[in-house]
Amino acid sequence: MKFFVDTADTKEIRELAATGLLDGVTTNPSLIAKSGRKILDVIAEICDVVPGPVSAEVAATDYDQIMREAAVLRRIAKNVTIKVPLTPDGLRACKALSSDGAMVNVTLCFSAAQALLAAKAGATFISPFVGRLDDIGQDGMELIADIVQIYSNYDALKTEVLVASVRNPIHVITAAKLGAHVATLPPAVLRGLYSHPLTDKGLAAFLADWAKTGQTIA
Ligand code: E4P
Repeated sequence: MKFFVDTADTKEIRELAATGLLDGVTTNPSLIAKSGRKILDVIAEICDVVPGPVSAEVAATDYDQIMREAAVLRRIAKNVTIKVPLTPDGLRACKALSSDGAMVNVTLCFSAAQALLAAKAGATFISPFVGRLDDIGQDGMELIADIVQIYSNYDALKTEVLVASVRNPIHVITAAKLGAHVATLPPAVLRGLYSHPLTDKGLAAFLADWAKTGQTIA
């Protein structure tokens, strides 16, 4: 499973990229707003740090303006992935952009029917938002299971399932068990994957015993 980080905080991205485990980055208009920076500058800096797909979301909703914004975003770097909303105009843009060789991430997916449309429109990634579904009392992971199953029924559908709106490590593990290709994680969730109290306890005991030997290795 590929791990993307869901943030526009370039300090966080640099630290996480240094782990060697980061495959890409997703941003959205809310995350860009939170960064307090200009979108073109932030995306350019992220693309310099992370060679994998970096999602930059258009702010337009009509086809012509989506295409104009996508052209500007695509010029930033080769690894920019154009993020479009799951609307008729967004999917029309998805089809045009993917036919022209761009990577496209279709965002704000909340149903299997929407995911099927995005795949037919040539999306590189479909982003189902599991946390926001859980928030309204629907099972986000059921949607992931449905999409993974539907896509696997058709060799012609090449779209990767990018699990979004992830809130905790259980979301990540459940999505991995279901065979989702990618999860985009808030930095805190990504860091949380390392943690287990028995790892901390075991390491403390090993180090205490080692100290008693008075040895050094290097
Ligand atoms: C995905 O690309 C979105 O940016 C993101 O996962 C949304 O998550 P949220 O529901 O926590 O805002």
